[in-house]
Amino acid sequence: RPRADFYEAVGGEATFRALVARFYEGVASDPVLRPLYPDEELAAAEERLRMFLIQYWGGPSTYSELRGHPRLRMRHVPFAIGPAERDAWIRHMKAAVDSLDLAADLHKELWDYLLMAANSLQNRPG
Ligand code: HEM
Repeated sequence: RPRADFYEAVGGEATFRALVARFYEGVASDPVLRPLYPDEELAAAEERLRMFLIQYWGGPSTYSELRGHPRLRMRHVPFAIGPAERDAWIRHMKAAVDSLDLAADLHKELWDYLLMAANSLQNRPG
């Protein structure tokens, strides 16, 4: 579990807003990832990921109020996530995390989690 003050320490909602906005800028023009997102608009997906991360790191639990239990593994089953999709997700998220210019310990805690989570959501073999 993240440390109790993590959400405030990284800058609260504004930081997660910037993180996820940057990430979806990458997704929008990615030939591997873009076709996975069913909606015409990425804005709704961006909002879900932002709410989830805010909740996970100790901010408001709006995600679960609107979406229920995260069940990320189950919710990703409809999307074929092999090594290429996972790697593209990781590459865009790495650029987004790096763009935040966080202190090294906060950066490491955030990145270690995202990398672990991305690896755990691959659901197709290579
Ligand atoms: C939803 C792809 C990893 C969190 C989605 C969706 C896609 C997707 C296509 C549906 C878009 C939508 O919300 O309508 C991927 C791919 C990944 C990946 C290719 C690469 C491994 C992750 C990771 C996390 C995450 C690591 C969390 C740290 C979420 C959340 C939703 C979501 C919270 C919305 C779930 C819901 O409430 O319906 N993802 N994802 N994803 N993803 Fe991922």
